[in-house]
Amino acid sequence: MVKKMLDDKVAVIGAGMMGSAIIKSLLKGGYKGQIFAVDVQLEKLLELEKLGVNTGADVLKAVKCADIVFIIVKPRDVKSVLCEIRDAVRGKLVVSVAATVPLEYLCRHVPDAKVVRIMPNLGAMVQAAYTAYCCDGNVTLEEKQKIQALLSMMGTYDEVDEKYMDALTAVSGSGPGYMSIIIEALTYAGLKVGLPRDVALKSAAQTVLGTAKLVLDLNEEPARIRDMTTTPGGTTIEAIYQVEQSQIRPALIRAIEEATKKSGQIREKLDLT
Ligand SMILES: NC(=O)c1ccc[n+]([C@@H]2O[C@H](COP(=O)([O-])OP(=O)(O)OC[C@H]3O[C@@H](n4cnc5c(N)ncnc54)[C@H](OP(=O)(O)O)[C@@H]3O)[C@@H](O)[C@H]2O)c1
Repeated sequence: MVKKMLDDKVAVIGAGMMGSAIIKSLLKGGYKGQIFAVDVQLEKLLELEKLGVNTGADVLKAVKCADIVFIIVKPRDVKSVLCEIRDAVRGKLVVSVAATVPLEYLCRHVPDAKVVRIMPNLGAMVQAAYTAYCCDGNVTLEEKQKIQALLSMMGTYDEVDEKYMDALTAVSGSGPGYMSIIIEALTYAGLKVGLPRDVALKSAAQTVLGTAKLVLDLNEEPARIRDMTTTPGGTTIEAIYQVEQSQIRPALIRAIEEATKKSGQIREKLDLT
């Protein structure tokens, strides 16, 4: 199955931030099939070309060569791409990475394709993405396995009900944005207590990574990790006391709630329903 998948030709329409992250993760993951990257901004293709990717500005040419077509343009540009490729994707897998754009909308515009909607994050750049995906009813088990093999090169993944996609866009799709603020804040805290800049940054980032690995690899509850680091009258409880007063929990909850609502607002504004 994976061997067959590795022979599939992949077209990536939109080689911006996320498009190039996905392509790089496939290359790092040992993807052996041909990859065609298309972007209207040719300078975005130069680096990918050096990595051995076929590049160009002709969407239809790339799509005609491909078995699997990734659409990785902004939500506002999805409709024009779908209209352009409508006939060329008959029977092919179309994977939309665009936030807010529902499966139903995608299927309506490319009715003869098999459609998958995914929500990865920038962790794909280092094969550490979390990707949620959902499929239209016509996607076969074999096609789903192909998608899973591709997503596994980007990091970890889950198949989810589409109703969770906006929430996952908020928690994980946009997540590297908020996590960067937390790492930056910890770094500045390190500077405040006198650490050299490089040590402050590395210790902050590695601590976030290590804590995430404790949760994921050891299946530990975050509350238990907090308790494991907290000795009575010690340094951790002193810090936790301050953190809890900062209202960080409600701030993050409100942030995710608002980001989730924003997906619906964008969908409505762009008439993507
Ligand atoms: N960035 C993230 O962290 C992230 C995470 C999850 C999901 N996503 C989703 O991924 C999609 C792309 O996001 P991004 O951040 O990668 O955006 P981006 O950096 O702007 O990349 C999109 C690229 O596609 C190009 N493009 C637009 N129309 C095109 C067309 N018809 N044919 C070929 N290329 C075209 C754009 O050119 P112009 O700039 O000239 O329009 C741009 O270079 C979005 O829908 C977003 O919701 C992004």
